[in-house]
Amino acid sequence: MYISSTRCSTRPACHVRVRLADGGAVILRPLRGGEIHVLETVFEGLSAQSRQQRFLVPTPRLSGSARRALADVDGRDHVAWVAMTDGEPVGICRYVRTGPETAEIAFEVVDAHQGRGIGSALVDAVTTVARANGITRLEATVDPGNRASVTMLGRLGVRLAMDDGLLEGNSAFSLLDPPSPVDRGAVRSLAAELAAELATVG
Ligand SMILES: CC(C)(COP(=O)(O)OP(=O)(O)OC[C@H]1O[C@@H](n2cnc3c(N)ncnc32)[C@H](O)[C@@H]1OP(=O)(O)O)[C@@H](O)C(=O)NCCC(=O)NCCS
Repeated sequence: MYISSTRCSTRPACHVRVRLADGGAVILRPLRGGEIHVLETVFEGLSAQSRQQRFLVPTPRLSGSARRALADVDGRDHVAWVAMTDGEPVGICRYVRTGPETAEIAFEVVDAHQGRGIGSALVDAVTTVARANGITRLEATVDPGNRASVTMLGRLGVRLAMDDGLLEGNSAFSLLDPPSPVDRGAVRSLAAELAAELATVG
């Protein structure tokens, strides 16, 4: 399902602007179904190590089926938000519901923009939407050497335990504390508006 971004112009707001600690800014917005080019652009900006950390196996390219699965968002059970800067997508965070109140979370920020707080802003936005959609538990699988992800999941209260060489988490979560500079109210409004639109189209 694809909602054209031109329809965005009819809305009062179709993104949330976030001021970063380094003085820069990013725009956060929901990924819309079919936005394969956004997935590809972010994937191209990931180093081999970041791809390995994100997908947990060496991933030189995204297969067609992986692209379709990653773009198959519905605003409720599969939600992804994109961070944009200078008109370019630089990061994505998503959750995929795996149970009535449980979802798997995953995130990535292109190497050139890591360490600026973009990952935290994306995670804050997506977990805010998850909570609004009834998700109370998060699952994640992380490489033990992935300090940024371990930090981020720790700030959500997700407990991680080593299992077969990887850190696995499946626990209740709380919204990021301390919070990122994301306006959570604006995120909730935009997510609810898009979910209603997708439900109508679907
Ligand atoms: C994980 C990832 C999304 C974080 O994005 P980011 O924009 O760099 O994150 P932030 O700048 O918001 O930093 C988040 C936290 O991690 C810490 N951090 C960032 N890079 C770090 C690093 N290389 N080593 C240790 N800690 C790091 C930051 O200090 C911050 O913690 P703080 O708020 O307590 O200071 C990014 O590193 C990435 O894309 N990695 C590859 C893909 C991946 O690992 N995905 C997760 C698998 S689910």
